[in-house]
Amino acid sequence: MATIQWFPGHMAKAIRQLEENLHVVDIVFELVDARIPQSSRNPEIERIIKEKPHLVILTKSDLADPEQTTNWIKQFKTQGLPAIAVDSKANITTKTVTRISQSILADKLNNEQQKGLKERPIRAITVGIPNVGKSTLLNRLVNKRAAQVGDRPGVTKGQQWLRSSSKLQLLDTPGILWPKFDDEVTGQALALTGAIKDQRFASDDVALYALKFFRKYYPKALQERYKLTSDDFDLSDVDLLLKLTKQFGMKDDYERASDRLILDIRKGKLGRYTLNQTDGEADD
Ligand code: G4P
Repeated sequence: MATIQWFPGHMAKAIRQLEENLHVVDIVFELVDARIPQSSRNPEIERIIKEKPHLVILTKSDLADPEQTTNWIKQFKTQGLPAIAVDSKANITTKTVTRISQSILADKLNNEQQKGLKERPIRAITVGIPNVGKSTLLNRLVNKRAAQVGDRPGVTKGQQWLRSSSKLQLLDTPGILWPKFDDEVTGQALALTGAIKDQRFASDDVALYALKFFRKYYPKALQERYKLTSDDFDLSDVDLLLKLTKQFGMKDDYERASDRLILDIRKGKLGRYTLNQTDGEADD
């Protein structure tokens, strides 16, 4: 999906649409990227969805550091937010998402049945920033043979419910939130993972951030991928980038080398990583 430029008007419209759709769903699936669970969250989300049941889904967990993902899930739970990690390409995802939604909504569904109401599917909407994996998850969840279950009153015209399992239905239009990056590191983390693809960040800045980060948290991955010596680790970030530029056969074109480094990291060539590191403590 193309990067969206967010202006106040866009944001107001996105919030309005989301608020309209909230009335017709039982639960909100808030998607965050497992590599940047904090940087890919929009801090307005809680205010927008208010008391609506809420499940945080960490997408692209196949690309993230598994230990960090476990820490993040714990951390969300201590904030009172149920959370799960998914790889949207895996079959098991539908079952996992359905089961946890049922458990979150168990009281509501039991109440309905005690009142004599018929058993019905849970209705959900996915929301998240661009590129977080909303369409991919929706495609995974939806049973394509019987995808559309038709218009329903209350749903914005033109929108439809898509059937996942017999227990779960999804609104076909995800809610799009804007990424928020007041500080430079958040912006660089978003750029490095490909969440923002525009020219707002110079690729050499993002590459230098990446080198600093991988040296600190995943030095072995960096060393193995680029065959670095211990002397290389004594270089400054800038000198290391220049060394890699030569190594890539790009003379002094460090911008092209930066693009290459960024692409390697996005594609997982340096292995699995999480840019928003937690120390596993519940509430830091
Ligand atoms: P959006 O609707 O929220 O904008 O995101 P979308 O589903 O289009 O996904 C954005 C990118 O993230 C896509 O890659 C998609 O394949 C990838 N993606 C989504 N979920 C997962 C996941 O669980 N694991 C992995 N590894 N990747 C995921 P793309 O580069 O735009 O396209 P392509 O690489 O699939 O061709």
